[in-house]
Amino acid sequence: MQSEIDFVVLNARIVSMLPTANGYQVSDPCAIRFRDGKIHDVDPSNLLPSGIASFDCNNQLVTPGFIDCHTHLVFAGNRANEYEMRLQGVPYQTIAQNGGGILSTVKATRQASQEELTQLALPRLDGLIRTGVTSVEIKSGYGLTLNDEIKMLKAAKALESHRHIRVSTTLLAAHALPPEYAGQADSYIDFVCQEVIPAVAEQQLATSVDVFCESIGFNLQQSEQVFLAAKQHGLAVKGHTEQLSNLGGSALTARYQGLSADHIEYLDEAGVIALSNSNTVATLLPGAFYFLRETQSPPIELLRHHQVPMAIASDFNPGTSPFADLTMMMNMGCTLFGLTPEESLRGVTCHAAQALGYGASRGQIRVGFDADLAIWDVEHPAELSYQQGMPRLTARFIKGELGYV
Ligand code: NIG
Ligand code: FE
Repeated sequence: MQSEIDFVVLNARIVSMLPTANGYQVSDPCAIRFRDGKIHDVDPSNLLPSGIASFDCNNQLVTPGFIDCHTHLVFAGNRANEYEMRLQGVPYQTIAQNGGGILSTVKATRQASQEELTQLALPRLDGLIRTGVTSVEIKSGYGLTLNDEIKMLKAAKALESHRHIRVSTTLLAAHALPPEYAGQADSYIDFVCQEVIPAVAEQQLATSVDVFCESIGFNLQQSEQVFLAAKQHGLAVKGHTEQLSNLGGSALTARYQGLSADHIEYLDEAGVIALSNSNTVATLLPGAFYFLRETQSPPIELLRHHQVPMAIASDFNPGTSPFADLTMMMNMGCTLFGLTPEESLRGVTCHAAQALGYGASRGQIRVGFDADLAIWDVEHPAELSYQQGMPRLTARFIKGELGYV
């Protein structure tokens, strides 16, 4: 039996994040035993079988590796100038309508090579890794041509060969209307559905497709076309929905069994019920809420009441959330949205895994799940949401392999 085990993590005070657990109890020091990159079992007797490689946690806290389930980590250029404009009172929507915003990043991203995009993303990724991230979702959406969207997705995937990380890629060709299609949103959506989605699916460059369903993005009908095409090509769907207004994008996402509806500040009860019925995750993005100085909070009480799983993500992007720090997002989720630190921790572990389609294999310390762990020098799990800015992560495991920070 013991010979089946190939690695042991000793003296681990485990916060397992099982969805059934009531509260997030911390275990007494015990051993987590791996086999072939999976959690084989948890041994309360905390023994090291002879001849097996091991890592001693010295009674530190062990959580599932954190999962950032919504980022735009790959892009070129920077938008500090727009930040200055917004601080002088120019709204985000006005900047976007005047060719700034997403389109200014599109311009810079089109000019960059795939290798340059990967290199530019590395320091951003390092910020996330330092806050416990072992899996990150990265969207395209700043290319908006077939080749540039493909270039972004390949640049994102290539990060796996530079860092100890798992990358999930999402096609977000329906992020903004590119200048060459000005006034022809329907034709652009036809192009996305007929050319981009089939090519990306065929080359297996993404596992899901996202849409910016908003007055400054795409309308419901256009979003539905994208979801239909995605489904026809075997890809999962998710949406940027109800961020600035209530168009009904979350309910649409739910109708297509979406993995998640993201932002959702303007979501109403009908939308919450739709998410609940399809088991679609509500992904909260407090960084964008904070950075845009939004005042409409997502409907946390309704989400709780209808038992919609809530994830928290960084939404790292140059325009609305330039924050490469997932524990800071947990802090913001608590302070700005009223989540409990336990909900915040679920938001970056089990619920974030579900938002990426990995609910049955990641985001929990559980027999048979992937051996992806974060080891923290903190006493209590609430500290992960509480104190910020100090290095507290001491090690991470991905597929049972140790990686330092
Ligand atoms: O998630 N909402 C749309 N997309 C991004 C913003 C992208 C940008 O401004 O560059 C978001 O907030
Ligand atoms: Fe986003």
